[in-house]
Amino acid sequence: MILLHLSDLHTSRFGSRMVEIAHGPARVARGEGWTTAQDLPEGWRVEARRAEGRALQLRDALRLVDDQGKIHQTLKIKGDLSEADALARLRDLAGRRRQTHWLALANDLPTPQRVAELLQHDPANTNLRFCRLAWMLRQEPADLLLITGDLTDDGDGYELIQVALQPLIDAGRVLALPGNHDLYPAPPLWTARELRKPESDKLRAWGRFASHLGIPAVGSFLREIAPGVLLACVNSCHRPAVPASASGAVPNAHLQALSGALDAAPRDATRLVALHHHVVNLPANGLGLPPFQPGMRLRNAREVLDWLRRERIDAVFNGHRHIGYRYQPSEGPLFLSAPSSTSGCRSGADPYLWRVEVDHRGLQGVTPLPVR
Ligand SMILES: [Fe+2]
Ligand SMILES: [Fe+2]
Repeated sequence: MILLHLSDLHTSRFGSRMVEIAHGPARVARGEGWTTAQDLPEGWRVEARRAEGRALQLRDALRLVDDQGKIHQTLKIKGDLSEADALARLRDLAGRRRQTHWLALANDLPTPQRVAELLQHDPANTNLRFCRLAWMLRQEPADLLLITGDLTDDGDGYELIQVALQPLIDAGRVLALPGNHDLYPAPPLWTARELRKPESDKLRAWGRFASHLGIPAVGSFLREIAPGVLLACVNSCHRPAVPASASGAVPNAHLQALSGALDAAPRDATRLVALHHHVVNLPANGLGLPPFQPGMRLRNAREVLDWLRRERIDAVFNGHRHIGYRYQPSEGPLFLSAPSSTSGCRSGADPYLWRVEVDHRGLQGVTPLPVR
């Protein structure tokens, strides 16, 4: 069988969030002196603040605010930028943002040609990049898509994923695991209180998506994905008490339950494991085990690694780091880490998936498959 391993889609409300994180926290419109300069469709508006009479402000400024009160861009009126130009730019941005809202894309999935056009104006948009990926996946001759978590950036976009992958989901060819972004509350320093979703809402959204795929929303489970090929889907998204941490852990009870299921399965089957967090790092960073990575690591990586060896696991798939690598230690399974299938690799490499050929005898081939 052919398995495609992808990860970290990070779909979001407008697809722009990963970019916004790089430029600063998601802010909401507050502050004195701002008044509505122009109302835009669907509850959006342009607000203005005048410099006149303000001791600390030298220029007039305009900002684009969405229906939730979130600021998308602020422009100062100076030099070549007239107020009319600034207003036109912000109106244009509002139009483009509304076009890439996950719901707009899900209601009317753009054709591959239209996706390419939209990407020309907004090349880093994760919602658009996901649409491009989905069209590619629909063409790809694969038996199973395995998505190892962070499908969404903050619980937004499952419906877009459902619509875009519907033919594959209907054929029972999609398995997914949650990532910290899907389940943990958004970090307080990055997201204004008004925009933070309750954890229970995120869990419910994941649960609806999981039931759509026909998989359990909580816990870990074992599936026979082809004759003589077993895949354990392990939920590593158990957050610590520390706020803003993205670290994970696999509860002992999950490992024990999976051991029981594996004991009951044929001994000579090929054994695969998928989880969001990384059990080992790039070999260059040490001898496999993740070094001290506050806020990112799998907290019981040592225990999980011992379990993988004990259970004679052949290969382990993970996401989370947005770094793609393969690592085969002398003892133990092959580790395959997928970069973000929309944003690419932190090294700067373009997005790619792992294409894995596997049968009851073991892994028959592992190759990177670039996202076209
Ligand atoms: Fe991620
Ligand atoms: Fe993650």
